[in-house]
Amino acid sequence: MKKIIVAIDGFSSCGKSTMAKDLAKSVGYAYVDTGAMYRSVTLYCLRNNWIQNGIVAEDKLKDAIPSIRIEFKYNSEKQMNETYLNGENVEKEIRSLTVSNSVSIVSSIGFVRRAMVAQQQAYSVERGVVMDGRDIGTVVFPDAELKIFLTASPEIRAQRRYDELTAKGETVSFDEILENVKQRDYLDQNREESPLRKAEDAIELDNSYMTIAEQKEWLLHHFEERTK
Ligand code: DC
Repeated sequence: MKKIIVAIDGFSSCGKSTMAKDLAKSVGYAYVDTGAMYRSVTLYCLRNNWIQNGIVAEDKLKDAIPSIRIEFKYNSEKQMNETYLNGENVEKEIRSLTVSNSVSIVSSIGFVRRAMVAQQQAYSVERGVVMDGRDIGTVVFPDAELKIFLTASPEIRAQRRYDELTAKGETVSFDEILENVKQRDYLDQNREESPLRKAEDAIELDNSYMTIAEQKEWLLHHFEERTK
């Protein structure tokens, strides 16, 4: 069976990573969470106090970017990939609301995007990859054989993120999360560098009222079509 690249793009908290991870596991492909890469760079900036009042110290970040190493390692106990920033497991920390609140500004910086896109393209020289993000089908792999564009209403996405964070023991407010989801939608769609948009040849799916099992089946069907 021929190996392909599956690009899954869409709004934040749409369940892209759940879908992508499930597919990768079912078909034995690698999975790359590109949002985790931008989140890791954001965490690096926050730890260095390089983000003040919504402004990033770009000169400092530009000097540091070649030495920011992001890797994914499989945790067999948890049966999932975890994100490592310069050798440290940051999987939990990069999902915090503090990082979520700043990630849009960091991911809108051109030199950050170019560095991350180069790493993403290098992960997939041999195909057989499922990658999720905002610009995978448009910028990273415009030639991906299967492109999906996921959407769901902001309220439903905020509820999903609220459930995820409270399950991890974080105390968060639904309204604050909804505000964050809406603000990120706006920033993701309106930034100058690689704004979020559906690739012309992407298949759109609104999963607001679908179960995870239904989404998995839907995606597997499209995957099988493309790899026949
Ligand atoms: O998918 P996520 O919520 O973990 O992504 C975090 C942020 O990173 C999101 O606000 C948009 C940005 N992002 C991006 O600009 N390009 C990507 N390929 C992936 C994520």
